[in-house]
Amino acid sequence: MNLLKIIKKFLFIQNFFAWLVSKFPAYLEFSLGKYLGIKKAMYITAHDKTYGSYLEFGVFTGSSFNFAMKVNKNLDKLLGNSNCDFVGFDSFQGFGKISQSDEHPMFKDETFEVDESKILKNIKKCAAGQKYQIIKGFYNETLKKDPQEYNITKARVVMIDCDLKESTTLALNFIKNILQKGTIILFDDFIFFKGDQTKGEFAAFEEFKASNPKIKFREAFEYGYGSKAFIVSEVN
Ligand SMILES: C[S@@+](CC[C@H](N)C(=O)[O-])C[C@H]1O[C@@H](n2cnc3c(N)ncnc32)[C@H](O)[C@@H]1O
Repeated sequence: MNLLKIIKKFLFIQNFFAWLVSKFPAYLEFSLGKYLGIKKAMYITAHDKTYGSYLEFGVFTGSSFNFAMKVNKNLDKLLGNSNCDFVGFDSFQGFGKISQSDEHPMFKDETFEVDESKILKNIKKCAAGQKYQIIKGFYNETLKKDPQEYNITKARVVMIDCDLKESTTLALNFIKNILQKGTIILFDDFIFFKGDQTKGEFAAFEEFKASNPKIKFREAFEYGYGSKAFIVSEVN
């Protein structure tokens, strides 16, 4: 009897499987998707020897930042030392001033206020000897500087996880001159704002591409819940 025949006969199997999947928390599934997206980007760049920094815009509790450091440790053993350093940017107090066009019921400052010292302690523990820096502050201040002022010269993987169009625009303009052929940019919140093409990370990326036509991007892969990754295929 093949599987389909078994399922048709014993409908409780289908009921059990549906129950099991429905019980798995969507937030954990979302995070798992994010982890797999980061792992793919780190693997592809390690494989192609696209060396440089892992940059994350939106650290929050450090979940994805810590995961990226863990993955890199394993990949270095497999594919050779990439000498990667990790840089995270966050206010740890949310977004600051949110413009009217960026308003969203889930993207509120209160949601993203965290106990910064606890997060930093945990990041230090998870880093286990890897090079990293956390740049604390609102992007309209911290991203005014050039990447070189933070000792960042080339981007390997960029995780854009800062939800809003304004924050994403600041992040993209900051990384513009450190993009190289092979850099992978992950947009974690590419689908939100009800598919509105004038809002969120999607709109910021569209505007960035239009203003920088010499930088070419190729779709790399989709991950998680509507998140997308692009690879830089040409820089000039
Ligand atoms: C969705 S959370 C990041 C989640 C994190 N990557 C993880 O996997 O746990 C978004 C973060 O972006 C930060 N953020 C967004 N816009 C910002 C801005 N303009 N300045 C500073 N931090 C900002 C928020 O404080 C928040 O912690």
